[in-house]
Amino acid sequence: MKIIKTITELRDHLSHFKRPAFVPTMGNLHEGHLTLVRQAKPLGDVLVASIFVNRLQFLPHEDFDTYPRTWEADCAALEAAGCDVLFAPTEKELYPEPQGFKVHPPVELSDLLEGHFRPGFFVGVCTVVLKLFNCVQPRVAVFGQKDYQQLMVIRRMAQQFALPIDVIGGATLRAADGLALSSRNNYLSPGDRAEAVHLSQALKAMAQALREGAVDISALERQAMTHLTARGWQPDYLVVRRRADLQPPATGDIPELTHNQGLVVLGAARLGATRLIDNLEV
Ligand code: PAJ
Repeated sequence: MKIIKTITELRDHLSHFKRPAFVPTMGNLHEGHLTLVRQAKPLGDVLVASIFVNRLQFLPHEDFDTYPRTWEADCAALEAAGCDVLFAPTEKELYPEPQGFKVHPPVELSDLLEGHFRPGFFVGVCTVVLKLFNCVQPRVAVFGQKDYQQLMVIRRMAQQFALPIDVIGGATLRAADGLALSSRNNYLSPGDRAEAVHLSQALKAMAQALREGAVDISALERQAMTHLTARGWQPDYLVVRRRADLQPPATGDIPELTHNQGLVVLGAARLGATRLIDNLEV
């Protein structure tokens, strides 16, 4: 695996390839990231991963400074997963001057759910992803469905800017108990780690209720919020949305949307100081 830290060297190296496949990350890699690498590998003639903890997508009170950085282990894991090129720019390399030009996704996609609770998050994500796309110039890029809204926003960005990149979703990898793997799981105390499974279980219960014919979505969402709150969580949202646009479905549409796999349940909640997110397609 070749480790490259500058844009010039990356361009130079990748000029020998026609179809780079790309998996961007912020490091502290777990099996979820690595399955994306394995999924992307056969889709291109060279597999490029990136590690860059992107300051632009963190709010001032969030965990940018303490975000886990595990460089040696990440390199070993990427190499073992078949990564050919690891692009790991410094902040000075990717943002040599303050990034004044930014990508603002449309509000109807980015001001709800994650964007509502983390204002500016998707501006930071889109800006860095567009910049990384320009550095790597991939033909295909793989993003996890774990970050459902992020995947949707990036797909739309690629469409609207006519980027010559297929944006592909990778299934969420989970621990044996159902907890979605996440770098932030490392923050959980042993007690909270045992409790953490209840987020995915709450989403499963909502999806199951829909499959059994529930149409009162507000009641479902309220029950799930109450359930997690009673267990000591601080939920931001637990909602049923249309897969197509992440908007709330009209009550009359719910049976058909459930039948046609048109719904997704999404949740975000804090356990102690750790914020977890997850989702499940119905
Ligand atoms: P990061 O949180 O490091 O995630 C990198 C990629 O791994 C994302 O596409 C994410 O959806 C995916 N991923 C995370 N957990 C996963 C799991 N359990 N199963 C499958 N895929 C999983 O997401 C980001 O970084 C950043 O926002 C980034 C896109 C790199 C821009 O800075």
